[in-house]
Amino acid sequence: MKDRVEPLRVLLVGRGRMGRLVESLASSHGVVVKGMLGHDREANAAALERLEGIDVAIDFSTAEAVPENFPRLAVARCDVVIGTTGWQAYTDLLRRIAADAGIGVVAAPNFSIGASLFAAIVSRAAELASEQEEYGAWIHERHHAAKKDAPSGTALALERTMRDAGLTRAIDVSSSRVGSVPGLHEVGFDGRFDTITLTHNVRDRRTFAAGALEAARWVHGRQGWFSMRDMLMTRANAAQGANQR
Ligand SMILES: NC(=O)c1ccc[n+]([C@@H]2O[C@H](COP(=O)([O-])OP(=O)(O)OC[C@H]3O[C@@H](n4cnc5c(N)ncnc54)[C@H](OP(=O)(O)O)[C@@H]3O)[C@@H](O)[C@H]2O)c1
Repeated sequence: MKDRVEPLRVLLVGRGRMGRLVESLASSHGVVVKGMLGHDREANAAALERLEGIDVAIDFSTAEAVPENFPRLAVARCDVVIGTTGWQAYTDLLRRIAADAGIGVVAAPNFSIGASLFAAIVSRAAELASEQEEYGAWIHERHHAAKKDAPSGTALALERTMRDAGLTRAIDVSSSRVGSVPGLHEVGFDGRFDTITLTHNVRDRRTFAAGALEAARWVHGRQGWFSMRDMLMTRANAAQGANQR
């Protein structure tokens, strides 16, 4: 795929903490923000009905808003980046809608590139720990007091990653909602005489906004339902191919 010369035209679904950060970083990622949706559902419905000249929607809104707005974005053949968490119960439905419309979607509970690296490290750790029954496993996540869903989407994804890596014993998952923590995830294994801890700690929410903007650029023109891992693997494979030429 050729590098895009024209700026990518984006609609922001949600103009809260994350929406505003995406807006502030947009131009440095070759993205121009063409509109924003907020909590006014009637205004949203009207705006989505006459949606034109938008390449990708970036959704950082609420769990309830995702299944409401997504079908309208699909009808408008707009690719979508979903950063909002807590809407997993609708995954099958939204995937069908996306497939029928032939759009591209990147959905991730955590758009930080570091979090994707962390998940890969956790996967390997869980694979190794699966052979060592005496090490109890846990996931702990800490977020700011205003975060609504718990456990976080990222903690649930880490749990799936550990299961997929072969860890069959109990994983204790816990959450704290406190102060203004942007996001901390800790994975640990505790043995009789020692403890292993792995931590991903977000110091600045801009890491999520930058990752979502990268995902928007990557997904436009692709069809299918993707994760951040898909994006990073595609890029890594492309870089490897280029190095071998
Ligand atoms: N994937 C990631 O990397 C990542 C990172 C951080 C956060 N998140 C998730 O992103 C979501 C948003 O986080 P935030 O901190 O930005 O929350 P926030 O500050 O509370 O902002 C939520 C926004 O959603 C808007 N909204 C409410 N109902 C809507 C509707 N029906 N349609 C469109 N927009 C609507 C609100 O509009 P008004 O301004 O008009 O009230 C508000 O602007 C949360 O689910 C959070 O867990 C994900």
